[in-house]
Amino acid sequence: MHLTTTEKAWLAGEDGPALRRAMEIIVALGQIYGAERLIPVASVQISGVSYRNLGQAGLDFLQQWAAEGAQVRVPTTLNPAAMDLEAWRVQGFKPEFATQQHAVIAAFAQMGVSAGQPHPTCTPYLIGNVPQPGEHLAWAESSAVSYANSVLGARTNREGGPGAIAAALTGRTGAYGLHLERNRCATLHVKVEASPRTSSDYSALGAQVGEHAGARIPYFTGLPLTRGEPFWEEKLKALGAALAATGAVALYHVAGVTPEARTVTPLAPEHETLTITELAPGYALFNDADAEIDLLWIGCPHASLAEIAHVAELVRGQRLRVPLWVTCARPVKEAATKQGFNAIIEAAGGQLFADACLAIAPVRALGFETVGTVSAKGAFYLRNLAGVQVQLKSVEEWIETVDGRR
Ligand code: F3S
Repeated sequence: MHLTTTEKAWLAGEDGPALRRAMEIIVALGQIYGAERLIPVASVQISGVSYRNLGQAGLDFLQQWAAEGAQVRVPTTLNPAAMDLEAWRVQGFKPEFATQQHAVIAAFAQMGVSAGQPHPTCTPYLIGNVPQPGEHLAWAESSAVSYANSVLGARTNREGGPGAIAAALTGRTGAYGLHLERNRCATLHVKVEASPRTSSDYSALGAQVGEHAGARIPYFTGLPLTRGEPFWEEKLKALGAALAATGAVALYHVAGVTPEARTVTPLAPEHETLTITELAPGYALFNDADAEIDLLWIGCPHASLAEIAHVAELVRGQRLRVPLWVTCARPVKEAATKQGFNAIIEAAGGQLFADACLAIAPVRALGFETVGTVSAKGAFYLRNLAGVQVQLKSVEEWIETVDGRR
């Protein structure tokens, strides 16, 4: 692999052990995937933030890197933590867990992530980290990777936890995979003959296609979606998150909607065709129990302000029979609070939590066994990581189901 003089010096440890270790990771990954050179990245998004997943060994590793003087070179944001960094007591977390989760965030802050004030979220593009078309990135969160590649037209592989940190410290990644235009053609034509309407419909569609697609790049035709219509970005956010959960899809194209469906030849000559005639099979993947849910979770991927406004409108004046948790980025929560949506949701018995992802939280220890969600990705990981039963419906159906007046 060709390295510049500066990169060779970093690799030789001339700028300290933290940068040397980061370069070793970047170069090793590049060699594994056949990169001929490294390329600069405009931003990084780091995953592996939950203390539940990292454990003490992961925290020790981060603290050691930070103590060695590791500093990010490009704008870098963090994936969600397990808990709301401020309202964790309300969520039911124990102080011992909260202390360790805060230590993880402190280690990243010490490295200069988000200028020392991280707002953990899986939707960095909703809080100012908005990549430009064609920009190279090193993002790690699968739904954010999908959104950046597909909806924004930026270029990123799905980085692993250490790889993303190494990219942040060097400002580099290997030129391979989705950074190369030739690898961005679709290899699976998805003909949609069903009529997805809500974001959860798009999520169910994504789950169904993801199971079939694996790591291929789908090209959707027949989707009743127009750029600029209400919730078009949220629907694509839901679609991409689900595709990346049941499959390993990091890029998809939608005819007439996503940027590279116009500019990159969307379909490779040898491609398979998948026809989707109904959405029910996608919903059926996440229907574990008939038992009443004990928690309703909305905000996977983290909710936009428009989604929170929609939830507030639906629950206005209600008294919900089960707790409702809406997760989002902290700046979005602050905007929702200012606009009064938070107060409406709280009056109905719901809560808005920032920073947190329920799928990487100790959900059973928090007292929940069956969780309702509008997200196939949320359902997939709640079941597989948190070990709870799940049910998937649209937000409208859920609010009707848990309306205490019925
Ligand atoms: Fe985000 Fe967690 Fe869902 S990281 S996409 S809220 S599973």
